[in-house]
Amino acid sequence: MLDAVIDERYGRRIRTGDRWLFDFASSSYLGFDQDREIIDAVPAYLDRWGTQPSWPRLGGGPALYEEIEEKVTELVGVEDTLLFPTVTHIHTSVIPLLAGTGAIFLDARAHRAIHDGAMVARGQGATVHHFRHDDPAHLEGLLRSSAITPRVIALDGVCSMLGSAPDLGVFARLARENDALLYVDDTHGFGVVGERTSNELCPLGTRGNGVIRHQGETYENVILVACFSKAFSSLLAFLTLPTRLKDVLKVAAHPYRHSDPSPIASLATTIAGLDVNERRGDLSRLDLYRMTERVLDRLHELDIYTPNRSGYPLIQVRVADREDNDAVGRYLFDSGIYVAMDAYPLVPMDELGFRIQITAANDDEQIEQLCQVLGEINERFELRQAQPVRAAVPVT
Ligand SMILES: Cc1ncc(COP(=O)(O)O)c(C=O)c1O
Repeated sequence: MLDAVIDERYGRRIRTGDRWLFDFASSSYLGFDQDREIIDAVPAYLDRWGTQPSWPRLGGGPALYEEIEEKVTELVGVEDTLLFPTVTHIHTSVIPLLAGTGAIFLDARAHRAIHDGAMVARGQGATVHHFRHDDPAHLEGLLRSSAITPRVIALDGVCSMLGSAPDLGVFARLARENDALLYVDDTHGFGVVGERTSNELCPLGTRGNGVIRHQGETYENVILVACFSKAFSSLLAFLTLPTRLKDVLKVAAHPYRHSDPSPIASLATTIAGLDVNERRGDLSRLDLYRMTERVLDRLHELDIYTPNRSGYPLIQVRVADREDNDAVGRYLFDSGIYVAMDAYPLVPMDELGFRIQITAANDDEQIEQLCQVLGEINERFELRQAQPVRAAVPVT
């Protein structure tokens, strides 16, 4: 289930060739790609601004940018934010600027786009150290062994493969104690998790304002990078930063000067999406949480292992025998379930399997069908189990 051509879609049902499938591979977590209110907001923006203002941002930008930056700054609770078209644009231009000829401490499982940013930085004179995934003790040792400055610690907020988030309080403390900047990619957390309150509808929290707020951490020595292209279904990304750094990046970060901007339709769906998020995003997050819990409960019932301990809507399932992976993918497809297959070299050999992504636009019928098919796969193939299978004790 890689590189499929989708010919048609109806809600979270998609048609590829002559087969209709339930879609569990979309990252449009809040279901805003199908939200009528958001879709209907677009034509008025196109009438006013045209389809694409083909100036790089430094050449001039529609007032919509200022409007979005102000709204996001308030939502995530920071001094300022700066928009770029994608997270990859941010990583490959901003990480090298932050690191200079200093050091980057990179979580070994950070997203590929962070690694690419670090490689550009290395080409410009930075030193890159890798620490074991989510291992603050290993990071601390590396920080102590190097005196180079400036120093950037880079990792994912919600991990796109494992569906979990590190304890950012621990990493932020290490950053502050070691005069480093903590650079967090929250592509999969923004819009999905948010600040915890006593009247929240579910443990994903409220407002979807990202993993830093969700964990009750502050932004001291922390830069958050996130995008609208997952939960908000719009091609746009941002980073949080002090205003004086924003002024520097406007000149120094190459996409601000040289790249074409996001289309007006994406700016429009971002603005409409932010508005809908404030009014009814928590209801979407409740749906998301409830459906994810149902799938996690089902895996638990079947004793199938998943690294997901968070309740976030990214659920990885692994095959026990790597030879089974293609057949498992085929079985899912033939049973009308569309998921992202984790094949080598996209994941290490011992993590072959598939990833289920749940969005608020899925429904209970689709979730029940998924749960049923998970049971069938578990009978026909060997999936990685939650409890290692014990060898039977020989009867003497
Ligand atoms: C964690 C993470 N970071 C970065 C990216 C790249 O984002 P963009 O498409 O905005 O460049 C992705 C894409 O899926 C991602 O999952």
